[in-house]
Amino acid sequence: MRTRGGSGFAGLQVACVVAALCLLLPTGSRAQLQVGFYNTSCPNAEALVRQVVTAAFANNSGVAPGLIRLHFHDCFVRGCDASVLLSVNPAGGKTERESPANDPSLRVFDVIDAAKAAVERSCPRTVSCADVLAFAARDSVTLTGNLFYDVPAGRRDGRVSNETEANDNLLGPDSTAEILIDGFGKKNLSIEDMVVLSGSHTIGRSHCFSFLSTNRQRLANGTISPAYQALLEALCPPNPGQFTPNTTEIDVSTPTVLDNNYYKLLPLNLGLHFSDDQLIRNGTLAPFASAFAANETLWKDKFAAAMIKMGNIEVKTGTTDEIRLNCSVVNPSSSSSTAGVIEMRFPAADEVATS
Ligand code: HEM
Ligand SMILES: *[C@@H]1O[C@H](CO)[C@@H](O)[C@H](O)[C@H]1NC(C)=O
Ligand SMILES: *[C@@H]1O[C@H](CO)[C@@H](O)[C@H](O)[C@H]1NC(C)=O
Ligand SMILES: *[C@@H]1O[C@H](CO)[C@@H](O)[C@H](O)[C@H]1NC(C)=O
Ligand SMILES: *[C@@H]1O[C@H](CO)[C@@H](O)[C@H](O)[C@H]1NC(C)=O
Ligand SMILES: *[C@@H]1O[C@H](CO)[C@@H](O)[C@H](O)[C@H]1NC(C)=O
Ligand SMILES: *[C@@H]1O[C@H](CO)[C@@H](O)[C@H](O)[C@H]1NC(C)=O
Ligand SMILES: *[C@@H]1O[C@H](CO)[C@@H](O)[C@H](O)[C@H]1NC(C)=O
Ligand SMILES: *[C@@H]1O[C@H](CO)[C@@H](O)[C@H](O)[C@H]1NC(C)=O
Ligand SMILES: *[C@@H]1O[C@H](CO)[C@@H](O)[C@H](O)[C@H]1NC(C)=O
Repeated sequence: MRTRGGSGFAGLQVACVVAALCLLLPTGSRAQLQVGFYNTSCPNAEALVRQVVTAAFANNSGVAPGLIRLHFHDCFVRGCDASVLLSVNPAGGKTERESPANDPSLRVFDVIDAAKAAVERSCPRTVSCADVLAFAARDSVTLTGNLFYDVPAGRRDGRVSNETEANDNLLGPDSTAEILIDGFGKKNLSIEDMVVLSGSHTIGRSHCFSFLSTNRQRLANGTISPAYQALLEALCPPNPGQFTPNTTEIDVSTPTVLDNNYYKLLPLNLGLHFSDDQLIRNGTLAPFASAFAANETLWKDKFAAAMIKMGNIEVKTGTTDEIRLNCSVVNPSSSSSTAGVIEMRFPAADEVATS
């Protein structure tokens, strides 16, 4: 308790300062993402992203898996801060994009650029690239799985992209159960989250160098169907070590639908990557995989929740870093002040190609 020695006014001032600090602390110390973050600053943000993603998906269904993986690879390296989108490393050296885990398999950067251009036209310098990517990944889930979830937003964009960090944090397709559990654990994602999120492989594609060589070894202990491996051998050139453009759908049954068939394929020895197969070989992981194979609703509920959790990894909030103007490059250092006006040319929607 304070004594009444000082003037009432000074006492009031102290109380106000303390109260102000207390009000500031929650946001300053543990800033949270918020659903509807752009309600007033850019009310159309999510609708604009959805329009661009929907149009790109209508032309090429690979856009959806491409965007979901892009969000995952963003979040696992320096948090969900759009660092994966940078094509230039301001500190010099190679970018995340240049990591073998990302190059040349990541795609649909152009869809993010188109979505960002749409929100910039409507509300300049307001919506971060990291949030555009999180919204676009959610829209991809909705388009392929008829599954919607609210995306908490307010992410800021980072100014660093470092190839080594991508190499160190992104998991390869030859990862064992132990490595998978450990890699997700480092991001505070549980064993169950890992099995749940691996279900993303119910859509999308993979390149021969991601599976062919290891699967030849899996033939020896019967962890891959010989007929499946024969099919894969037929579509890939014989030398599996080299990168080739040849790809196959990860889920051979329903490759464009976000469903639980991925988990049903695993016990049939039809898991494409060694890492997929691991989910049924380890006694800790297998019960999750079989529960999701048995109950699609269960998996979808958990998938939506795990995507939100993944989207929260090490996010930057408040006024740290920046709202990037061009998702491929950090803002020029002058752009934080109003003095530096940057010439941006955003392509019209019909100029944007997807790949
Ligand atoms: C558990 C560890 C994981 C490993 C080892 C892994 C590995 C891979 C590999 C090797 C590919 C194929 C890349 C290529 O050659 O084109 C791939 C594709 C894909 N991954 Fe994963 N992944 C994992 C987890 C995840 C998670 C957590 C997500 C999303 C939440 C995800 C989403 C996807 C999607 C959607 C594709 C298809 C991409 C496309 O069609 O462009 N993966 N993954
Ligand atoms: C934005 O509006 C939605 C719908 O009214 C509401 O649920 C959400 O809490 C709002 N978010 C913020 C940050 O204002
Ligand atoms: C990238 O990260 C690695 C590992 O943290 C570090 O040794 C290296 O100096 C970084 N490179 C740049 C250009 O910052
Ligand atoms: C599954 O793998 C983890 C990590 O390697 C290991 O600790 C655990 O003992 C394994 N569980 C079973 C039941 O094999
Ligand atoms: C995981 O949680 C711990 C404890 O809350 C925190 O210190 C750490 O930064 C978190 N790591 C990630 C990658 O979110
Ligand atoms: C089967 O073979 C692969 C490839 O040699 C090996 O890594 C794996 O440990 C073996 N056993 C199981 C249960 O996957
Ligand atoms: C792999 O892709 C190349 C280039 O598109 C194509 O020429 C070839 O026929 C494909 N299949 C095999 C088995 O090489
Ligand atoms: C499937 O999971 C849902 C969601 O957890 C649950 O409500 C439902 O009872 C489960 N269905 C069966 C057949 O177990
Ligand atoms: C964004 O930056 C990249 C790389 O410098 C450039 O090629 C592209 O034209 C820029 N986009 C816009 C809309 O200015
Ligand atoms: C449609 O998708 C194809 C690839 O499937 C791509 O080459 C083309 O540029 C896309 N067109 C538009 C308008 O996005």
